[in-house]
Amino acid sequence: EKGGYDHFMLKEIFEQSSSIHDTIRGRVSTKNNEVFLGGINDVIPKLVNARRILIIGCGTSWHAGMVGEYLFEEFARIPVEVEYASEFRYRNPVIFKDDIVLAISQSGETADTLAAIKLAKEAGATVLGICNVVGSSIPRETHAGVYTHAGPEIGVASTKAFTAQVTVLTMMAMVVGYRKGTLPKEEYHKLIQEFGKLPAKIKKILEKDAEIKELSKQYVDSTNALYLGRGYLFPVALEGALKLKEISYIHAEGYPAAEMKHGPIALIDEQMPVFVAATKDKSYEKIVSNIQEVKARKGHVIAIVTEGDSVISKMADYVIEIPETQEALAPLLTVIPFQLISYYIAVLRGCNVDQPRNLAKSVTVE
Ligand code: F6R
Repeated sequence: EKGGYDHFMLKEIFEQSSSIHDTIRGRVSTKNNEVFLGGINDVIPKLVNARRILIIGCGTSWHAGMVGEYLFEEFARIPVEVEYASEFRYRNPVIFKDDIVLAISQSGETADTLAAIKLAKEAGATVLGICNVVGSSIPRETHAGVYTHAGPEIGVASTKAFTAQVTVLTMMAMVVGYRKGTLPKEEYHKLIQEFGKLPAKIKKILEKDAEIKELSKQYVDSTNALYLGRGYLFPVALEGALKLKEISYIHAEGYPAAEMKHGPIALIDEQMPVFVAATKDKSYEKIVSNIQEVKARKGHVIAIVTEGDSVISKMADYVIEIPETQEALAPLLTVIPFQLISYYIAVLRGCNVDQPRNLAKSVTVE
């Protein structure tokens, strides 16, 4: 059932070149330059006119929500707040009748997310879901939604569900932005065309598996790790850190790269691996300086860079090259090397990657 892989997690990481295809199938048409989301088609006008969107989730789903925030702000110019479901539900939150609440959950059974949805419904908001498990509790509670169609995810650490969630959020933000007129037609079409190329680009990243396994050996005995990214890649840094923590039990933190100088830089010494998502985008020059800051303090830099990058490769201890893509789609590619690094470090440490200690696949208690 593991399809020849040692663990479900590895199988699920490798499935991403096809699962992403399943997520966009019948929704993104590269032929007609169209995105169509049947599950929320009726509420698109509401989204177009929304004064704000509240995104709720836990763990990895919350990280996907953060990417969603950047996407909705950029494409649709809608203010977004991303909330941990567990905080939101206990805080007497301000919810307006015209709010759109977007709940994200792989399992569709997370107790805190479910409770937050009920609260939002009571307050009269329109509640939408992005879930993976068909027919689970959350899709039954929401007014409308989009399934991620990533297929069953067995490994406790979420991998292909994350890329599927981000894919759905991207499609949603594109549709809303295009209808609203805030995402220009040429941009919309460019994104659609790029979507069609993602499965092949993911495959190319997965071919680096042996290289990533090899470099992971270096960090098997690390006790701490830092993950840095900016813009769309900041949530990816958070997700990278979470993956490492949960399966290898190495303490890791994700930070927006520029925040480093406000505290975490004090932690950096020759023992500290610093994983940086540093592909070419509008904050590239800034992330290059952040890498310099880490190197000046003797930190170990492992950078995910765009193919052909000749600047960072001279500064970093290791670079993992990945294909170029559009800035807004970069999380879908940059997260994959991070997933593989965590996987290999955990395996080399002898950890049970599919069932890490103290964790459950769906958290049905508050
Ligand atoms: C991370 C992980 C958890 C879940 C979280 C939410 O790898 O598995 O952090 O992401 O418990 O679960 P869902 O998405 O099922 O609501």
